[in-house]
Amino acid sequence: MEQYGEGFAQAYDEHWSPYPTRAGEQLLRLHQALDPQAERRVLDIGCGTGIVAALFQQAGYEVTGLDVSEAMLKRARTRLGDKAVLVHGDATDFSVAEPFPLAVSTYDIPNHLGTPERIRSYVECVFRAVRPGGVFAFDVAAPKALLGINAIQVRETDDSILLYRGALNEEAGYGFYRISGVVRAPDGRYDRFETTITNWVVSLGMVSDTLKDVGWQDVYLAAPTDLLTPLAGDQIATGEKLHRVCFIARRPE
Ligand SMILES: C[S@@+](CC[C@H](N)C(=O)[O-])C[C@H]1O[C@@H](n2cnc3c(N)ncnc32)[C@H](O)[C@@H]1O
Repeated sequence: MEQYGEGFAQAYDEHWSPYPTRAGEQLLRLHQALDPQAERRVLDIGCGTGIVAALFQQAGYEVTGLDVSEAMLKRARTRLGDKAVLVHGDATDFSVAEPFPLAVSTYDIPNHLGTPERIRSYVECVFRAVRPGGVFAFDVAAPKALLGINAIQVRETDDSILLYRGALNEEAGYGFYRISGVVRAPDGRYDRFETTITNWVVSLGMVSDTLKDVGWQDVYLAAPTDLLTPLAGDQIATGEKLHRVCFIARRPE
């Protein structure tokens, strides 16, 4: 069953949009600072409902989004309009016709992929999808932050009610959260949905080594609130305590 189905896609926009909105703003700032003259085209891998892509589009970028969920892509189409290129595909197995100067991927895509082998495939696919000299920026939920999965929450807005239950199996290295909810349909009635989303614990050191092994250069980690300032060595250990960290890397010329 699709993890990000119709009901959840609607609830996502209502409840989870603040982080991708901030992330998109930071990523735009990053690209303008690193490569101000670069062509304005961006590939968003695991684009979801297009929140990040929309910020790039508003800044004059041509946007391409790739996601495995048809329901998330449907909302992205509504948000981004006909000019955006939206592709139904897997982040670990895709190719593009014309490589991009910038690829971004937000809200824990590596944590959704599972094994180090799948993370490697993702990093390799993005390497081929970015042109020489181009940039790849993505975030990862830090291992300790996944303890936050252990919770029961109820969230409520005028248009939705969600019941969230999560559990992390630290030994197995993954956790899941089950979300049951209702979202208001256009006709005013409520549609019910259930979904279970799995998040894997991902070692930051493994991601860093994989990036370098695949050929990415100038790899650094940064806090999501300031992508231009690399975390220093001792802060990388602290990074494990941050809720989320960003990796920034460049494809060699
Ligand atoms: C937490 S959402 C983030 C969406 C968007 N990046 C944002 O920041 O709003 C995770 C997204 O990753 C997508 N996803 C998960 N596994 C994927 C895969 N293997 N390939 C492509 N997309 C994937 C899901 O369908 C979902 O839209």
